[in-house]
Amino acid sequence: MTKATILTGITTTGTPHLGNYVGAIRPAIAASKDPNVSPFYFLADYHALIKCHEPERVRQSSLEIAATWLALGLDTSNAVFYRQSDVPEIMELTWMLTCVTAKGLMNRAHAYKAAVAENEEGGEKDPDKGVTMGLFSYPILMAADILMFNAHKVPVGKDQIQHIEMARDIAGRFNHLYGEHFVLPEAVIDDNAATLAGLDGRKMSKSYNNTIPLFEPEKKLRKLINKIKTNSQEPGEPKDPETCTLFSIYRAFATPSEVAQIRQRYADGIGWGEMKQILFEYINQQVAPARDRYEALMQAPEHIEQQLREGAEKAREISVPFIKELRQAVGISRISA
Ligand code: TRP
Repeated sequence: MTKATILTGITTTGTPHLGNYVGAIRPAIAASKDPNVSPFYFLADYHALIKCHEPERVRQSSLEIAATWLALGLDTSNAVFYRQSDVPEIMELTWMLTCVTAKGLMNRAHAYKAAVAENEEGGEKDPDKGVTMGLFSYPILMAADILMFNAHKVPVGKDQIQHIEMARDIAGRFNHLYGEHFVLPEAVIDDNAATLAGLDGRKMSKSYNNTIPLFEPEKKLRKLINKIKTNSQEPGEPKDPETCTLFSIYRAFATPSEVAQIRQRYADGIGWGEMKQILFEYINQQVAPARDRYEALMQAPEHIEQQLREGAEKAREISVPFIKELRQAVGISRISA
């Protein structure tokens, strides 16, 4: 049996937070231990340049994300863990794909359409104001990430489904022109993956600036949890767990029986101060061992670098011969030996 290749990328523009952890990192790390799949996980640093022109931030984020995944026990003997920019064949493939991608397809990309809509609503004369070619053609770079390793399955958030469909379109077009080189990838949406609310009750997201970093030191973690917005109900009043941010976070970490107990405490009128204390203690004890490893790794960046280089070597065992085949297919080759 050939193993299914699963692949996903993490854009290196932020610090991993609790929402990233439960929604993406935790399931990916669990999958890295499954001997029946062949996982590819990478730091999407070229993607970072699309929205972030701060070199220090991109560098720091790459370090933090790599340290996080390693500290959480990513199995790098099974998973290929690499930095996109260490695999230059991806960029080369991006151009080959760019040349078979209809501009009209890119016109329909959500991220681009949202930027145009915002300009129009703001009364801008130029609907493309602030839109770089990077943003416009970003789905092609993402298609190259996926097709380079002929991934079968791509675990992503709902906002990325369209990009996977575009990757399929682009792969189909290339295959039609040049022969069957690419697998058509499928998006995998994990309906069980929790979506966490953030400090202000909206979805936890770096764009809302309401996140709780996963490996925040203990004192700061306590402070942030104390800042989570709650309603003004008093201790003793029965409370609704379903609309409570504290509960949504607790539930993403605790076992079903622990969750059932806390649900009862809500019915019995637990006070917000006490619930915040319980939540802090719970998360803190859960993340503490990985946080220690994270801090040690952050002090030893050469160890992280080494892991990423080994990952890139494994990735290039595939990408180097494959790009050679693709060059041949499109007619780019030496005239004589
Ligand atoms: N665009 C993805 C995001 O913002 C990150 C990403 C880049 C990705 N390349 C990918 C995800 C390839 C899956 C496959 O979340």
